[in-house]
Amino acid sequence: MRKKIVAGNWKMHTNIREGVALASAIDKAVEKSEIKSEIGIIIAPPLTHLSLINQVINDERVCLAAQNCSSESKGAFTGEVSAKMLHSVGVKAVIVGHSERRAYYGETDEILTKKIKSVIENSMLPIFCCGEVLEQREKGIHFELVKSQIENALFGFTSEEYSKIIIAYEPVWAIGTGKTASSAQAQEMHEFIRKTVESKFGKDLAENTTILYGGSVKASNAKELFSQKDVDGGLVGGASLDADEFLEIIKSF
Ligand code: 13P
Repeated sequence: MRKKIVAGNWKMHTNIREGVALASAIDKAVEKSEIKSEIGIIIAPPLTHLSLINQVINDERVCLAAQNCSSESKGAFTGEVSAKMLHSVGVKAVIVGHSERRAYYGETDEILTKKIKSVIENSMLPIFCCGEVLEQREKGIHFELVKSQIENALFGFTSEEYSKIIIAYEPVWAIGTGKTASSAQAQEMHEFIRKTVESKFGKDLAENTTILYGGSVKASNAKELFSQKDVDGGLVGGASLDADEFLEIIKSF
């Protein structure tokens, strides 16, 4: 059965002191609450915080993720951090292809495939992001667009490799805007993504793929979104920076 997951993407927020305090608060709250055992909890703090936060997380339910990694394994790539380095500080998952990275840092499907490969080779789970911008939705080409993102970045993997991948559908128009996709819009796209995956990797792998929704998820809308058949949880930005709110979202299942 596919896993349900709530992941917090902190983006470029918090200094080290605030970040450690936030991670500790989430960790303690998770430890105290009765969260269903089948729900995975992921936090993706900034790179500078990972090593220290790994030491303050006690509850093994809270899994540490990075927001990005290099497509290269090592070498003269100033400023880059490899998947292997992330793994060595306790990281277990890596967000790949977030729309902000695609838009501001020119990350192409080809680069994303290399990053995902590197993440898998280093025994971590890639969280692959896809999603359309407003103009593409208004033109009615959002299904086509998401299909091509998935085909281009993921269809070159073997079934064994693919089975490690988590997909996050994040309509760009819903990120940080307070404008959430309706639960019907989210379900429609998630079902489409699962069908797209099925066409290449078959029914079993498609059914076992965790597909997260991201874009202005908060405690007030999480229950409705997560109740959709093909929505297996959320990739949460802004609302994951508040431990209480994040916990409420986790409890929405
Ligand atoms: P917000 O939840 O702030 O809209 O961000 C979503 C996101 O980009 C998560 O990766």
